[in-house]
Amino acid sequence: MRASNRADLARASTLVPNAWGKTMKTLLLVTVAVGCMVGALPGCDRSDTQVSQKTVELYGTHCARCHEVGAANAPRNGDTKAWAKRLKKGEDALITSVKEGLVAMPKMGDCASCTDDDFRQLIQYMSR
Ligand code: HEC
Repeated sequence: MRASNRADLARASTLVPNAWGKTMKTLLLVTVAVGCMVGALPGCDRSDTQVSQKTVELYGTHCARCHEVGAANAPRNGDTKAWAKRLKKGEDALITSVKEGLVAMPKMGDCASCTDDDFRQLIQYMSR
């Protein structure tokens, strides 16, 4: 039933030369797309739309062994409470911590090839 309704709707909107309807449809699509990009709409999972494959891979290769389990007091991936405390320092300070190492965390978080931008994205990924 739903599928045929949708097909009917699609047929109606393509067959009826209704410029206003088309404009509204375009506006709606643009709104949804932008809403998803900024994570403002419910149902658009921010972590899915904003985390790149590269970030997930870097995390798995370099950060996960400590940050997945919380080894040696490392703030765990997805532990928003633990990360909220860290984020108060500001993102730049956190990036500096990773680059210089912090207590049990080795320099560069063990990712010598990571850039500041990689770290920024890794921090955003882990902290939500
Ligand atoms: C060998 C384990 C280990 C690895 C690998 C590791 N970390 Fe950490 N990380 C820690 C520990 C432990 C802490 C908490 C240090 C503390 O405050 O005592 C920490 C803290 C942090 C913090 C918070 C710093 C602050 O100033 O509060 C950030 C950001 C961070 N790690 C990012 C990363 C990223 C990104 C990677 C991967 C590129 C990574 N870490 C890899 C152990 C690790």
